[in-house]
Amino acid sequence: MTRQTRPAAGTPLSRVDGRLKVTGQAAYAAEHDAHGAVRGVAHGVIVTSTVGRGRITGIDTRAAAGQRGVLKVISHVNAPELPYRPWRGVPDPARGERLRVFQDDRVRFFGQPVAVVVAETLEIAWHAASLVRVSYDAGRPATDLASPAGEPNESENYTRGNVDQALRQAHVRLDRTYRLQREHHNPMETHATIARWDGDRLTVWDKTQIVLNTRAGLAADFGIPEASVRVISPFVGGAFGSALRCWPHVTIAALAAREVRRPVKVALTRKQMYTGTGFRPVTEYKITLGADQRGRLTATVHDIRAETSTYEDYREGLGDVGRMTHATPNVRLTYRTVPLDINTPTWMRGPGPATAAYAIESAMDELAYELGMDPIELRMRNEPDRDPSTGVPFSTRRLRECFRVGSRTVGWDRRNPRPRTNRDGNWLIGTGVAVATYHTARAAAQALARLHADGTATVQCGTSDMGPGTYTSMTQVAADAIGLQVPRVRFQLGDSSMPPSPPHGGSMTMASVGSAVQDTCDKLRRQAIALAVQDPRSPLHGTTPDDVTVANGRLHLRDNPARGETYQQLLARNNRTYLEARGGYTPGDEVERFSTHAYGAVFAQVAVDEHLGLVRVRQVHGVYDAGRIINPKLADSQAIGGMVGGIGMALLEHTITDPRDGRIVNANMADYLVPTNADIPNVSAIYLGGDDRTADPIGVKGLGEVVIVGVAPAIANAVFHATGRRVRDLPITIESLL
Ligand code: MOS
Repeated sequence: MTRQTRPAAGTPLSRVDGRLKVTGQAAYAAEHDAHGAVRGVAHGVIVTSTVGRGRITGIDTRAAAGQRGVLKVISHVNAPELPYRPWRGVPDPARGERLRVFQDDRVRFFGQPVAVVVAETLEIAWHAASLVRVSYDAGRPATDLASPAGEPNESENYTRGNVDQALRQAHVRLDRTYRLQREHHNPMETHATIARWDGDRLTVWDKTQIVLNTRAGLAADFGIPEASVRVISPFVGGAFGSALRCWPHVTIAALAAREVRRPVKVALTRKQMYTGTGFRPVTEYKITLGADQRGRLTATVHDIRAETSTYEDYREGLGDVGRMTHATPNVRLTYRTVPLDINTPTWMRGPGPATAAYAIESAMDELAYELGMDPIELRMRNEPDRDPSTGVPFSTRRLRECFRVGSRTVGWDRRNPRPRTNRDGNWLIGTGVAVATYHTARAAAQALARLHADGTATVQCGTSDMGPGTYTSMTQVAADAIGLQVPRVRFQLGDSSMPPSPPHGGSMTMASVGSAVQDTCDKLRRQAIALAVQDPRSPLHGTTPDDVTVANGRLHLRDNPARGETYQQLLARNNRTYLEARGGYTPGDEVERFSTHAYGAVFAQVAVDEHLGLVRVRQVHGVYDAGRIINPKLADSQAIGGMVGGIGMALLEHTITDPRDGRIVNANMADYLVPTNADIPNVSAIYLGGDDRTADPIGVKGLGEVVIVGVAPAIANAVFHATGRRVRDLPITIESLL
């Protein structure tokens, strides 16, 4: 008889691809030649500019080209003109003109690709690349927000109410400026691309969070139809946003392959990643808060400036938090991007809100002290009952509950609010809180599902899995919808020939792809049920489809489980090798009718060495309202990873640029500091769970981004509570506390 199975979704299933990853069978972008997918691969090594601004006056490639095994040296001197057709990525982070590789003699930033050496082996290519002599007519680059390379872009202007009047009448007014330094994603896997031409068709194995953007980008660059390009990316070793664009090295790999008429691999070094992909931009956030005696915000002003390149205007959702987090009738917000002689920034985990929340949630903490009010109570007094920026209702907003649960867990009520009152030997102990919010993005996605005669199923969508566990969570959703056990379902992703997916970013994969997978697999199950009901030889013949359910691969009457048959029996009798269904998800008007966000209350405890200024995080605890949780184990991986990223943002991460030439001086994992195990104490998360069916059909609100938001201000607020010192520049270093 049918064994009762509980749904796969909601269980802490281990990664279905875990074994492949830990046994080296998962092929990452640079490994597809070693895994046999592509043969005869030559190696391209990029030569990068050693000045930050100027023109190339000469390139001497003779010594490099003369090396045995060198196939070609390509630079603007001999590169063919590329069409670089205009196109808009989905999503589009930057307006302006992409960097066109080897198309002119201009140097726009330090580390810009100026040539590529293609050789039989990586070693020869590296050696030859070291022999390329480039001369420049160089100028001093603009690398500082204070002295831009051009006029700032008006990226956003927003107003509601009358800010000036409200500020004049405010009981308390606070003016502060917060700064965040540049940060790089530093995923474990460095970026790489292998490109192969077969006539005028291009196949690319790439590290990407969106195969469709790489396909569209390459098609545009080479002026060929998108249908002529196939992008394959089954495994991504972390990305955090760094693989959301088709970067210059991808085009270089394809160009080099076309020039040498062989497949070419271009793998960026860790150092090259700092200028070859994007980063979280330096941001200066000026904030003014006005409040009445009871702590209700009457006005907020947000003046935001962030760096961008001279050729593109990169914008992120820096205004979202200021517009909607707290109930305020009067808001003015300006966001300017400042062109500098740098490469273009890009999304990095929690892009926008992670930065904005640092400023806003630090300022809220300062306001709480001005008012002599508990910082959680201050947040609660400013909880809106509708989205204050649009007036529409929230789909779900359980921030009060997040704070209630979190306060209980960490014992917030026992806290003495006075700074510098708690100590443990030489350590000053402090606690802090902050709000986390992140918009629930959703976008159209499609999927394909096949039920095979052996009772297994494969489900496909051209999405990605950079680490959150897409393979696993989609398998769970598919297994439940088809009525199979998890081991009988295989989910495939990472190929542009599969049904289209939105970017694997912005926390939208579970909502969008998950809903598409569910719809597709529901259709597949209904198709099988319809086949059985119409089949005179089926035990289910003549029954009502709605009365039939499937569990463990067996179709049966809901009220009479004995009457039924297996998928195998049904397909074999009907001579079907498989049943196939296509389905998808398109967001509807709920996107406008409701304001949908994931929320979190973040608590941090720090210890600061009184004499040395050394900050040790003792605890970070987040309580999240992110809707339904498909897999609590993966959710914990996401949440802990996000919070660790937040600790890095608060205390360690800082890309340092030499102002003389624009060189990044710490472009390596020894000097660019990220948290290591010893920096990571007790980090934990609780999910309120629930099920937000106005968000999307599977009820999730997205978790990957919101878990980094709010961590840095919670830590900064804890540092203030510990020491009485308010640091308004991230990262908080020993020097800033001395
Ligand atoms: Mo996330 S920054 O959208 O990868």
